[in-house]
Amino acid sequence: MTDSIAEKIESLREKINHHNHRYYVLAEPEISDYEFDKLLNELILLEEKHPEFITKDSPTQRVGSDITKTTNQIEHKTPMLSLSNTYNEDELFAFDKRVKIGLDETELVEYIVELKIDGVSASIHYQNGLLAKAATRGDGVVGEEITNNIRTIRSIPLKVKEHSNFEVRGEVFMPIDGFNRLNAEREKRGEKLFANPRNSTAGTLKLQDPKLVDERPLDIFTYYLLGDNLNINSQAESLNYLEQLGFKINSNYKLCKNIEEVISYCREWETKRDNLPYEIDGIVIKVNLFEQQKILGSISKSPRWATSFKFKAKQVTTKLHKVTWQVGRTGAVTPVAELEPIELAGSVISRATLHNYDEIERKDIRENDFVKIEKGGDVIPKVVEVDLSQRGNDSQPLAIPTECPICKLELQRTESEVALYCVNNFCPAQVKGRIIHFASRGAMDIEGLGEAIVNLFVDKGYLNSFPDIYNLSDKEDELKSLDRFGEKSIENLLASIEKSKEQPFHKVLFALGIRYVGAGVARKLVSAFKTIEKLKAATTEELEAVDEIGPSISNSLTEYFSQNKNIELIEKLQNSGLNFETDEKEIGNSKLEGLTFVVTGSLSMSRDEAKEKILLSGGKFSSSLSKKTNYLLAGEKAGSKLKKAETLGVKIISEDEFNRFLDKY
Ligand code: IVH
Repeated sequence: MTDSIAEKIESLREKINHHNHRYYVLAEPEISDYEFDKLLNELILLEEKHPEFITKDSPTQRVGSDITKTTNQIEHKTPMLSLSNTYNEDELFAFDKRVKIGLDETELVEYIVELKIDGVSASIHYQNGLLAKAATRGDGVVGEEITNNIRTIRSIPLKVKEHSNFEVRGEVFMPIDGFNRLNAEREKRGEKLFANPRNSTAGTLKLQDPKLVDERPLDIFTYYLLGDNLNINSQAESLNYLEQLGFKINSNYKLCKNIEEVISYCREWETKRDNLPYEIDGIVIKVNLFEQQKILGSISKSPRWATSFKFKAKQVTTKLHKVTWQVGRTGAVTPVAELEPIELAGSVISRATLHNYDEIERKDIRENDFVKIEKGGDVIPKVVEVDLSQRGNDSQPLAIPTECPICKLELQRTESEVALYCVNNFCPAQVKGRIIHFASRGAMDIEGLGEAIVNLFVDKGYLNSFPDIYNLSDKEDELKSLDRFGEKSIENLLASIEKSKEQPFHKVLFALGIRYVGAGVARKLVSAFKTIEKLKAATTEELEAVDEIGPSISNSLTEYFSQNKNIELIEKLQNSGLNFETDEKEIGNSKLEGLTFVVTGSLSMSRDEAKEKILLSGGKFSSSLSKKTNYLLAGEKAGSKLKKAETLGVKIISEDEFNRFLDKY
């Protein structure tokens, strides 16, 4: 009896795995979704009745219910290298030449060319034919474990027929339509949008709950197989074997006899890529034979036997309806192009930055023009140039604005700077920007006082300047009666405001938003001058004697402290109980000057606290180990960073030793 149930379960699993492969890997389903679901439900029911037969590789076990709480670091026994880049034919010819010089010049070299999928690379380990572990690339030597998340990707087999041990590497990606659907849902829920499919893939792989990952449309193309006794001699054989094992590979690869064929493949895909349902950012070119790859070897982080051909950023042309001017917290007024919405590399673009008026003049950008836009590495697209062939008769050069778009007062333009400024300190746009900065995470860290609330409170007249924040508690009842808030949220906000009074002086100084005084400069100033009185009294020479403080910062500070209204503002904040001098504990020093630290494992303090201590003592903090690291501060369960530190010859210290280090002098 039991035997037949076990057999039934096994036969169902085989059927499901087969259809899963037909659907997710080959995109050639043999049965309907309905029939597939019937098989899966049958298996689910049987396993529920007979839980003793549930195994990890069952297709019902893809989505685990365990939340990943800790991040496990995994060392890549074979480093995950990156690729050198080429951008044009000449560079491809040069690559070919280097390969030939590296080998015997008379030897024949064949190249495999593959699409360079724009996603996140992952390494997946199989033991005895079962998916055992998966990790991100990390810094190439040590990555983070993502096994539970990788298991949710249906095109990855949980089990392969060959019962061997091997590692598969590939690119996890999100298809464009899945990405758009995800962003549309996020928009509906008022959540932050992902800039592109690659970012959303990276964000998804970092999630701790595999159930959430399962709701995201991730997929993978595998391109690399590592293992002993695999009996494969080339990249072409490798791809074939991956396919045989049931992995998804990208079938657009090609074996090229020479670099000319490689070049025409690159040209071909430069246009064909627009029709793909996923994003690619170039072509990967690999020497086909492993024997030749071995001879060529690698230089530092990339192999000599491979390179990538990077496509130029995608551009589209669209109509520029209008140029609007945005006022930032410092009063800088910057132009923004309002565009006819258009799709570009997976998202719809309706605005682009124009940087400043000089750029508008230089590129002769006018309203009603057709402009070419492209996405750089970041979210905000930029206007590249005007398509003059489409310029109509109605086109008029844009005038430089003379008044602030918000407060209507006259704008100023400094000689040395291309920027325009609204010098009205009370301009609502500036007031809002300043308060948003003041309350932000790196400054006073007031939770609940984000952009939308600040805008509302300024418009309602509750907030005009920083001290008003600390008087909001007087208006508690009034705030609670506002439509948008519950009692609890106002109470939380007021508690968070109260708590912000504990922020150390350097955060308060940063929060003030003095021009050129960023978080790092604020820290330096506080560690040099200790109190606001001394900082106020400091002369230009004294200021500039501080490391990294030059004339623009010192002028900005002198100018700031010369204004009565700023002195009054500081007094009010002092009366509200904010810190304007350093606590002995957080006075910076230079005990750790010139030393770089990496922190790993769990310590009695948080990672951020450790970082803070290191920075305050003049040390440098880094998240990845290298030869330049001086110390690895290792807590409990330190993981693979320890090994890496040993191989690199980096000194490893415990938390106690670290604390003694700081007390020593
Ligand atoms: S081969 C040494 N093949 O591009 C071999 N990489 O900069 C390196 N990538 O980290 C990887 N598609 O994330 C290879 N068909 C492909 C690829 C590919 C995308 C990514 C991968 C890698 C990066 C290299």
